[in-house]
Amino acid sequence: MEIFRVQGGGRLVGEVRVGGAKNSILKLMAIALLAPGRTVLHNAPRIADVAIMSEVLRRLGCQVEVKPDTEKGCSTDSVSIDVPEDVGTEADYDLVRRLRASINVLGPLLARRGHVKVAHPGGDAIGSRGLDYHIAGLRRMGAEITSEHGFVIARAERLHGASIVLEFPSVGATENILAAAVLAKGCTVIDNAAREPEIGNIVAMLNGMGARVSGAGSSTLEVEGVEELVPVIHRTVPDRIVAGTWAYAVAIAQGDVLIRGADASHLRVALDKLAHAGAHITDLGADPIHGGFRVQMTQRPCAVDVVTLPFPGFATDMLPMAIALASVSEGPSLMTENVFDARFMFANEMARLGAEIRTDGHHAVVRGKEWLSGAPVRATDIRAGAGLVIAALRAEGFTEVSDIHHIDRGYPDFAAQLQRLGAQVERVQVAEPELGA
Ligand code: UD1
Repeated sequence: MEIFRVQGGGRLVGEVRVGGAKNSILKLMAIALLAPGRTVLHNAPRIADVAIMSEVLRRLGCQVEVKPDTEKGCSTDSVSIDVPEDVGTEADYDLVRRLRASINVLGPLLARRGHVKVAHPGGDAIGSRGLDYHIAGLRRMGAEITSEHGFVIARAERLHGASIVLEFPSVGATENILAAAVLAKGCTVIDNAAREPEIGNIVAMLNGMGARVSGAGSSTLEVEGVEELVPVIHRTVPDRIVAGTWAYAVAIAQGDVLIRGADASHLRVALDKLAHAGAHITDLGADPIHGGFRVQMTQRPCAVDVVTLPFPGFATDMLPMAIALASVSEGPSLMTENVFDARFMFANEMARLGAEIRTDGHHAVVRGKEWLSGAPVRATDIRAGAGLVIAALRAEGFTEVSDIHHIDRGYPDFAAQLQRLGAQVERVQVAEPELGA
């Protein structure tokens, strides 16, 4: 098996480039299903999930080709997807369980084909993750939806526009309902919609395809249904969580790093917190090639409290980075998680590094120490894995992070990028420990 071996100490200095967001490219690939013909998506990150989503689309009859982007200085891919007229309607559990985002084919296929059968993805390491908001929204547009033998089965001759109020601004539900509404008959209003930049990116793509959607970035999306859509060439939005991870890594290890290709306006609360912790942040604008932001940190961070909320609040995916920061900050920090019920599972692994964390329901108090203490730990999900690696930058001795396939799902070339910034991080092959008799 492969692990990351991290030797703590030392500052991070230099430049990293952030590619497109995992949570954007997978959704854009599903959106491509709405139009027959060739869609091309640029700035796709080199992560395993793109290969899994490609397989989901291939099994629906699409041809998918992933090749390097030609833009100078970028190590991202372009994904071209040829969608047939008679695209398939079924997504099986073997792929859906490996990639929760496969559930995003539900809305597009229902709208295009009038029926769809997608395996229910179930929960995962960060908590129970329902589909009830997705289903309630599609039902309001006239879909008949049943759940049979682990599948969600939806049918509708032709969806119709509806007024939908989401109980919670769920990202996935907003995306599925939006994708269905663009081909529905009449007008759909989605209230309490998610406002994440990845939704704005989907709206831009949909409008490029001929859809009529307004309100991106606000809590109310208005959609006027059209008869058909055409394929487009579109660019994936930069990964704000990867950019935020780099920013928090610099605050933990101290140093001076330019994070190119990122958009600081997508990380306002997270960067404000860093500024309060003592970092100096310089916004270089949102130009995809030359823009980004710079983080400079020359002192031990001061403790800051964090409350996770839907965008534009502090992203739940950044909570492990905030806990890693709090663990080495001066003073106590209060962390409140409002989105996923099992995020604090990560605290157990952090405790192995000597972090002082006390959890109670959806709150945790972290008492910062000047140094953590290197130990073998296990990545339980993508973000927890990244949080452990950046915490290890400020741990005495060696930290060995196992189950790094989780980290690979969200962070292309993580160890090599950290090395280029001066961190002592290696990706090494080790023998699987044998159990005694
Ligand atoms: C997406 C992101 C994930 C991020 C999350 C919140 C992807 C692939 N994943 O996940 O990284 O952490 O947004 O920013 O883009 N819920 C229900 N019923 C539903 C839908 C959601 O109860 O029908 C609950 C969930 O269990 C969770 C909360 O609502 O507690 C938010 O979920 P949601 O915003 O839908 O997250 P995802 O789209 O699954």
